Amino acid sequence: MQTTTIEKTARTRVPIADVLRTRWSPRAFTNRPVENKNLLALLEAARWSPSSMNEQPWHFMLAAKHDDPEAYRQLYKCLSKSNQRWVHRAPVLLLAAAKLHNARTGEPNVFAWYDVGQSVAFLTVQATALGLAVHQLGGFDRGKAREIIRLPDGYEPIVMLCIGYADSPEVLPDDLRVREEAPRFRKPLESFVFTEEWGNPSHHINSIPSTASN
Ligand SMILES: Cc1cc2nc3c(=O)[nH]c(=O)nc-3n(C[C@H](O)[C@H](O)[C@H](O)COP(=O)(O)O)c2cc1C
Repeated sequence: MQTTTIEKTARTRVPIADVLRTRWSPRAFTNRPVENKNLLALLEAARWSPSSMNEQPWHFMLAAKHDDPEAYRQLYKCLSKSNQRWVHRAPVLLLAAAKLHNARTGEPNVFAWYDVGQSVAFLTVQATALGLAVHQLGGFDRGKAREIIRLPDGYEPIVMLCIGYADSPEVLPDDLRVREEAPRFRKPLESFVFTEEWGNPSHHINSIPSTASN
């Protein structure tokens, strides 16, 4: 049967870059492996993200289902049951971890989590540009992950990601298909961009008609 993927393009109030507009987090993935050069492009994008003091605290455990089946199985085991229900479709798993201390001074790096998040954002945008999809996963057992990947002290597991080519929602169980097809939602700009006083919606936003927003 011919299946079709869905588009969940953001309905924005003003135009934004296509890669940001079209990025979303699917649960349906095809079993097409991710080409190694594309995987490397994702990691290269993460590598070129900015970081506090250029500390580059990000580290990634990478497992491709077809090339590293045992490593994939080990990472998959760390996921919550609700994530395992659909993540098995994705051909690539990543676990992002942060180095928590500044390499030069040994002081805690308070931006470590922030910087790992930013590198993951770069990776995700690069994936979209290549026609790939990324779904980030906070639902995993950090203790189990630490043990399985033998994470040294001074590092923290931050987030897992599954990566692949999006498939039609029809491949999912009914409850997940409904979620996959549901409209996307974002809070309005007025609720989080302020000027002059906290809670006072910025006049920069008031000049944009809100009817165009989602
Ligand atoms: C740090 C983080 C953790 C997340 N954890 C999960 C998760 O465990 N399971 C899941 O299905 N989605 C997870 N998501 C995906 C979010 O639910 C999703 O990004 C959000 O609903 C917005 O949808 P969009 O990415 O399609 O715009 C996570 C996203 C982030 C950034």
